[in-house]
Order: sequence, then structure tokens, then C-alpha cells
Amino acid sequence: MVLFSQKDSQPWLKPGVFVGAIVPIPIMIWRGANGELGADIVATVLNQFGYLTLIMLAATLLCTPLKIITGWNFGIRLRRMLGLFSFMYATLHFLTYLLVDQSLDITAVVEDITERNFILVGFLAFIVMIPLAITSTKKWCGVWDSAIGNACIDWLMSLGV
Ligand code: HEM
Repeated sequence: MVLFSQKDSQPWLKPGVFVGAIVPIPIMIWRGANGELGADIVATVLNQFGYLTLIMLAATLLCTPLKIITGWNFGIRLRRMLGLFSFMYATLHFLTYLLVDQSLDITAVVEDITERNFILVGFLAFIVMIPLAITSTKKWCGVWDSAIGNACIDWLMSLGV
């Protein structure tokens, strides 16, 4: 199916998604400046960055199945940008927690990570995202396409995937 496959047929696609993905930041600043973030501003900001991370992550992970199921290419064109937005929001979520919520109290952070399972899961997910974000640059994409990419494909095929 050729729907959404022409690179230049949707010049608005990437800028449009970029604006849609970044706009929660000025909205949050605006709401904060107008006292609309509730009594516990830190908790609201922390949770909103958490939900934004989750939304961007889900959108990133949907790109490839969308291509496989429908043949539409536009998700593939957006995947890298969406992935970087999920990493950006995860970093803001983590920094809000580490610097503002916990005031860089490493002992309390370690206690939280070891005692509350969902924070451990979030922390592990964030750690996994770091090398993915670093290797998503154009230079690294070339490496994935060549040596490492081929080695991964060979390995997956040897497992019968
Ligand atoms: C991919 C990474 C992550 C995702 C998708 C994620 C997602 C979320 C979401 C959706 C919430 C809101 C939950 C609610 O409203 O009850 C949340 C809250 C929270 N997250 Fe994350 N998170 C991630 C990483 C992290 C990391 C790295 C940390 C810290 C080490 C962390 C610490 C927290 C804390 C402390 C809360 C507030 C919990 C509370 O209300 O008591 N998260 N996260």
C-alpha cells in the first residue's frame, strides 16, 4: 500500500508532530505561572512528565507494528523523533524526581528504587533508554544499518526469531 509512503507528500508531518510533542512544556509553564498546577506542584509536574514519557514511548513502539500491519510508512519516519521525545520527557521526569522531589538525596533515592517496584521498573526503563538515545544519532544509525545491525539480525535469525 502506498498510503503515506511518499517522503515529500507530507512536508507538515514531522514539524506538526514536533510541535504536538513539545507543546506540553509551554502549557505546563503557562499553567504553573497562573497557579493552575494544584497545591503540590512538584507531584503534578512529576506525574505529567511520567505520563508524557509513557505516551511518547507507546507512540514510538507503535510505529513498526503500524508499518507491518498497514504498510503505512509515516510511523517509520516519525519513530526516531518520537523516541527522542520519550527520552527527553523521561529525563525531565527523572530530574524532577532527583533534583526537586528528593533534593539530590541519593540515599533516599536508592531506598525508593529498592522499596517501590514501579520506581525500580521506571528506573530500569530509563537506563535502557540511555544507550538507545545515544545510538539514535545519524552516525550511529549507519552503524546499526551495517555491522551491528547485521550482527543483530544474524543473531536473531540463529535463535529462530
Ligand atoms: C520510561 C521511564 C518511566 C516512565 C514511563 C514513567 C512513568 C510514570 C508515570 C505514568 C507516573 C505517574 C503515576 C501516577 O499518576 O500515579 C510516574 C510517577 C512517578 N515516577 Fe516514573 N516513569 C519512568 C521513569 C521513572 C524514573 C527513572 C524514576 C526515578 C528513579 C521515576 C519515579 C517516579 C516517581 C517517584 C513517581 C511519583 C509516584 C507517586 O505519585 O508517588 N519514574 N512515572
